[in-house]
Amino acid sequence: MEKRLLLLLLLFPLLLLLDSCSAQVQGFVSLNCGGNGKFMDELGLLWISDDFLTYGETASISVLNESRKQYMTLRHFPADSRKYCYKLNVISRTRYLVRATFLYGNFDNNNVYPKFDISLGATHWSTIVISDANTIEKVELIFLATSPTISVCLSNATTGQPFISTLELRQFNGSIYYTPFEESFYLSVSARINFGADSEASVRYPDDPFDRIWESDSVKKANYLVDVAAGTERVSTDKPIEIGGNERPPQKVMQTAVVGTNGSLTYRLNLDGFPGNGWAFTYFAEIEDLAPVESRKFRLVLPGQPDLSKAIVNIQENAQGKYRVYEPGYQNLTLPFVLSFRFGKTSDSSRGPLLNAMEVNRYLEKNDGSLDGAVMANMVKLYSSEGWAQEGGDPCLPVPWSWVECNSDGKPRIVSVHLSSKHLTGNIPSDLTKLGSLVELWLDGNSLTGPIPDFTGCEDLKIIHLENNRLTGELPSSLVNLPNLKELYVQNNMLSGRVPAGLLSKNLVLNYAGNINLHEGGGRGRHLSIIIGSSVGAAVLLIATILSCLILRKGKKQHEPEQFHHSLPIQSQRMALSNAPAEAAHCFTLTEIEDATNNFEKKIGSGGFGVVYYGKMKDGKEIAVKVLISNSFQGKREFTNEVTLLSRIHHRNLVQFLGYCQEDGRSMLVYEFMHNGTLKERLYGPSTQEHGINWIKRLEIAEDAAKGIEYLHTGCVPAIIHRDLKTSNILLDQHMRAKVSDFGLSKLAVDGVSHVSSIVRGTVGYLDPEYYISQQLTDKSDVYSFGVILLELMSGQEAISNESFGVNCRNIVQWAKLHIESGNIQGIIDPSLCNEYDIQSMWKIAEKALNCVQPHGHMRPSISEVLKEIQDAILIEKEGIIVREGNSDDMSRNSANSSLNPGSLDLVATDNYLSFDESIARPAAR
Ligand SMILES: *[C@@H]1O[C@H](CO)[C@@H](O)[C@H](O)[C@H]1NC(C)=O
Ligand SMILES: *[C@@H]1O[C@H](CO)[C@@H](O)[C@H](O)[C@H]1NC(C)=O
Ligand SMILES: *[C@@H]1O[C@H](CO)[C@@H](O)[C@H](O)[C@H]1NC(C)=O
Ligand SMILES: *[C@@H]1O[C@H](CO)[C@@H](O)[C@H](O)[C@H]1NC(C)=O
Ligand SMILES: *[C@@H]1O[C@H](CO)[C@@H](O)[C@H](O)[C@H]1NC(C)=O
Repeated sequence: MEKRLLLLLLLFPLLLLLDSCSAQVQGFVSLNCGGNGKFMDELGLLWISDDFLTYGETASISVLNESRKQYMTLRHFPADSRKYCYKLNVISRTRYLVRATFLYGNFDNNNVYPKFDISLGATHWSTIVISDANTIEKVELIFLATSPTISVCLSNATTGQPFISTLELRQFNGSIYYTPFEESFYLSVSARINFGADSEASVRYPDDPFDRIWESDSVKKANYLVDVAAGTERVSTDKPIEIGGNERPPQKVMQTAVVGTNGSLTYRLNLDGFPGNGWAFTYFAEIEDLAPVESRKFRLVLPGQPDLSKAIVNIQENAQGKYRVYEPGYQNLTLPFVLSFRFGKTSDSSRGPLLNAMEVNRYLEKNDGSLDGAVMANMVKLYSSEGWAQEGGDPCLPVPWSWVECNSDGKPRIVSVHLSSKHLTGNIPSDLTKLGSLVELWLDGNSLTGPIPDFTGCEDLKIIHLENNRLTGELPSSLVNLPNLKELYVQNNMLSGRVPAGLLSKNLVLNYAGNINLHEGGGRGRHLSIIIGSSVGAAVLLIATILSCLILRKGKKQHEPEQFHHSLPIQSQRMALSNAPAEAAHCFTLTEIEDATNNFEKKIGSGGFGVVYYGKMKDGKEIAVKVLISNSFQGKREFTNEVTLLSRIHHRNLVQFLGYCQEDGRSMLVYEFMHNGTLKERLYGPSTQEHGINWIKRLEIAEDAAKGIEYLHTGCVPAIIHRDLKTSNILLDQHMRAKVSDFGLSKLAVDGVSHVSSIVRGTVGYLDPEYYISQQLTDKSDVYSFGVILLELMSGQEAISNESFGVNCRNIVQWAKLHIESGNIQGIIDPSLCNEYDIQSMWKIAEKALNCVQPHGHMRPSISEVLKEIQDAILIEKEGIIVREGNSDDMSRNSANSSLNPGSLDLVATDNYLSFDESIARPAAR
């Protein structure tokens, strides 16, 4: 007790000093988001800029009322899956009001009213829904600070961009807004009403020293204080009110009131956030001079809550005098969204009820956040100057930091940490070893020093990337005890000693190359140890050179996969692979190219990227040389980057990239030559009469192309979106097998982001309309183009035609849709197919094609689903042929598709086999 007093005495002059010197009201923070510098508003509140924030952009809007300068600017954030947080300092164990406001003002000139979430720490606070450009949305929360900082975060941009106009923090003192639930619940403000107000203006600072905003009861809003009883009158006084009560309502609010002169006060209003449990208090002060014989007694009547009506209010008695505050209320009351209440006078009362003010707050359960929150808070403190360490809020909730992934437990835990190439220095943070549910740890490409810590506490650890650092010491034997460890990468460090024998005998991908002093137990260094799960032909791990795609090694590419002894089914198509120097693309000299093409004699095609010439190398190999339009690639570096990527993309259904040439300011790409030209020529060219392709061949071409695309979408990391699929980009080899060309020339899709914005590129007729409008590119844009190709294969009609599709229709999609949806599939089938097809397979393709060309990407199937459908159609055709040869009747043919069993698909599954060079991934001898 004495100590406290001493402290108080010491602090008191200091507080006074601060109060009188600094313009900022003690305990107030007022952020003018997106603003510059600071300014004092007419209320005496000091607004400061939020320019300490390193993310988001600022915008100015025109505001009707010049005196509301804080609303003239705002800060907006990308509409992505991240959260954007403000971190504010608070005093622990103190209660605060935090208020955020939002005035849209069409800042983005889009008139798309934003909708997004706001959270306090890990707790979802509210969903902000803008429904009018010029209305200020406001949310308020009362909380007890339990740590020295709070984070207010915006996330989950459902429409438009998240933004914020102001963020205000107001400190309370004493026991104001104490509740017995405050350790686990916040109070979300639903209503704070000043009854009998003399204008529509709200009362706030300086009338309210805590700057609460007391709304006038005369404001006109939808379902705000309606159904007012007849005989309701406003009363007011100039006399001072003695402010008692816990919540210390401002005098100005208490000096006005409403009186139910006919015996009743009734009101109805919507309570934001309810139904739920809430805190509801009323504020009364007798401000009329009653004669000694008069009395004012009344009861609260709440529909459905008869018990509450028993208590009788007699203000003067309860407050022990006139002009004194009496504050009855309920700490925990269940309230509906639409609240109707009535105060009715008792029969022995001479005056009707009186009401000065009221507050209703909803209990909002706190979310304690991730179990790893404290550990991660410690860790990011070590890197406080790095952008990634400043994301703020909880590591997992409401959405995880950009570099972690969390599980979906009630109290989520971190399952992966991605801090590759983030300039980390010093030791590996020991906090990471405390992440009990960690599965993947990526710390490669940093400058970490010191030993590898003991990860025994992370039992679930499966993948550890520590390569390309400066780690020293031994490879700890504790790693052996991680029961789930499957991949361990420590190459290119300064580790020493011996590789624990237990690691070598573990079923594990282990790479410790480039650690000069690190040796295997036997002595002679074996640097790359790959142990392939050997249980009888089952799980297969493929490790090859550094690359973004699974590859077929050069030199083996002539072989058909069937000829390989080491052909292995792809188990996991997405693998990030390690080690070894980048395999550069082959560089041809200009002389070589000129010789091969006989000085660019024979032009065999042209497209968006350039003209294609035929060539024949000295060894007899035929090539296609694409001379790129000179401005396609700005710099040599960009060009080599692109070709390096191209050289890593290998699939039997993609036209093979052989190399490049960049000389004399000309950039060329060299591909294998495809003997049978483009699908377009085959379908519509002059030779179609003699060399028409039948339906099953067309299905096989579709299957091949779909496989190539599937590989680009799912087999490459990051995924590649083709962007320009069309029949002239599907080439046919000697055996009429199809390969997709012109892939990878566009920018690669960014990993982890569902869409990439860039200049719209594509070909009329094939272009995804959603992509055209939104410029948001996804793999579904390719699916749209592929749907058009399927329609072309069915109909033998070009994607765009001035004649074929009848009046007012130039587009194959509209035309085919009309026919297929009305059941008239015959109307669009290519007559040159001469009825040599099974109508069931035709229907399958027709329906899938229509799915592919749905207006919205999310309605379209993935290319893998399309591929499966094509394969089903092929099976139907094949069975149909057998049946047809056996002279069976039509009925049995038509039932062929319904008897499909999944197992029969294995017939075509051989194509999913992939070969790799044995010398790269060699099982370690044990
Ligand atoms: C502008 O706002 C201030 C305070 O919010 C108010 O007092 C004033 O009347 C408003 N002016 C107009 C023109 O609306
Ligand atoms: C994002 O908002 C939408 C719509 O308001 C909601 O359905 C969804 O659950 C929210 N997502 C998260 C992660 O909160
Ligand atoms: C804090 O509380 C004390 C009484 O407990 C009161 O006198 C003082 O005015 C309060 N501070 C503010 C800023 O209202
Ligand atoms: C209020 O009460 C008086 C007398 O009791 C009555 O004459 C009057 O009509 C009432 N007013 C309304 C609006 O009900
Ligand atoms: C309020 O009362 C209800 C039961 O009436 C109870 O379930 C709840 O935990 C109480 N507290 C809060 C903060 O809702």
